[in-house]
Amino acid sequence: MRVLITGITGFAGSHLADLCLEKEDVELYGIIRWRSRTENIEHIWDRLKLLECDLRDATSTRDVIKEVEPDYIFHLAAQSYVPTSWRAPSESLSTNILGELNVFEAVRKIDHPCRIQIACSSEEYGMVLEDEIPIKETNPLRPLSPYAVSKVAQDMLGYQYYKSYGMEIVRTRGFNHTGPRRGPVFVCSDFAKQIVDIENGKKSSVMKVGNLDAKRDFTDVRDMARAYWLSLERGKAGEVYNLCTSKSYSIREILDMLIKLSGVKVDIRTDKDRLRPSDVPLLEGDYSKFNNDTGWEPRIPIEKTLSDLLEFWRENPDRGLVV
Ligand code: GDD
Repeated sequence: MRVLITGITGFAGSHLADLCLEKEDVELYGIIRWRSRTENIEHIWDRLKLLECDLRDATSTRDVIKEVEPDYIFHLAAQSYVPTSWRAPSESLSTNILGELNVFEAVRKIDHPCRIQIACSSEEYGMVLEDEIPIKETNPLRPLSPYAVSKVAQDMLGYQYYKSYGMEIVRTRGFNHTGPRRGPVFVCSDFAKQIVDIENGKKSSVMKVGNLDAKRDFTDVRDMARAYWLSLERGKAGEVYNLCTSKSYSIREILDMLIKLSGVKVDIRTDKDRLRPSDVPLLEGDYSKFNNDTGWEPRIPIEKTLSDLLEFWRENPDRGLVV
């Protein structure tokens, strides 16, 4: 079968590519922009076919999808860093919404059955109340950032294209995920990189942090990749699924775990530039709907994820900014 991953050079995309290549009958294609960094997929370079395309451009998206005629599309490409969406809201909204729209329109034009997974986000839930935990798919969406609004739009567009045209679209609301190759702007990876830089004597013991009170539900990226695959193999078209662990940790607890795993001495300082105009205080999901339909459950404990992340930075201290 032909599988196309948008965002294949990114963090989750590269892990999903690894997983696809373990399957026997998969011919793997990835969409790449001319300026994309490629270090996340260099180890599998000769086992996949990369096609140049900017998803914001309808014509080039249509050409690529026509050429590949994919059976599965995993649509992961997006502007995925929440703070960037305050600095450049129109860029985040247009990249995320138009990119998906162009994929849907392109698939509609080919005469080939194709299932599409779209990577929506737990950020869509936004302002969640204490008595709504663990969050179910039926929870109201109260987005707190332009990024979150872009994901609500992607989500609703997926629903609308399913209803209007019967397209085989499965929406996944991924909660936070982390692990090796995570871009250094995201919290666990940022902290792990700072700790490794301190271990290596590359920086003083000062660790810069933002809001440590926020709570997040972290899944290992390798479990997340398995969930993405199962969403198309066994998930129901038109449905939306939470992907998470149903456990949450405060960012302070994550920081403490990383420091303990390293053993290094640090001096923690709040950096006001790391605080957001509004931060989602608590995200903890309920994945029972996805478990019922696909059998998926997370397998990798947080300690292993964080320990592998530290190891990743020890092995790749100069890795660039791939989000
Ligand atoms: N990045 C960062 N850096 N975040 C920090 C820091 C810091 O130094 N200190 C505290 N935080 C807090 C943030 O304020 C936020 O509450 C939490 O750590 C997680 O921040 P991120 O790792 O940047 O992720 P996110 O929750 O904003 O968004 C991620 O998860 C979403 C799913 O819920 C991204 O991966 C999104 O693309 C994804 O949709």
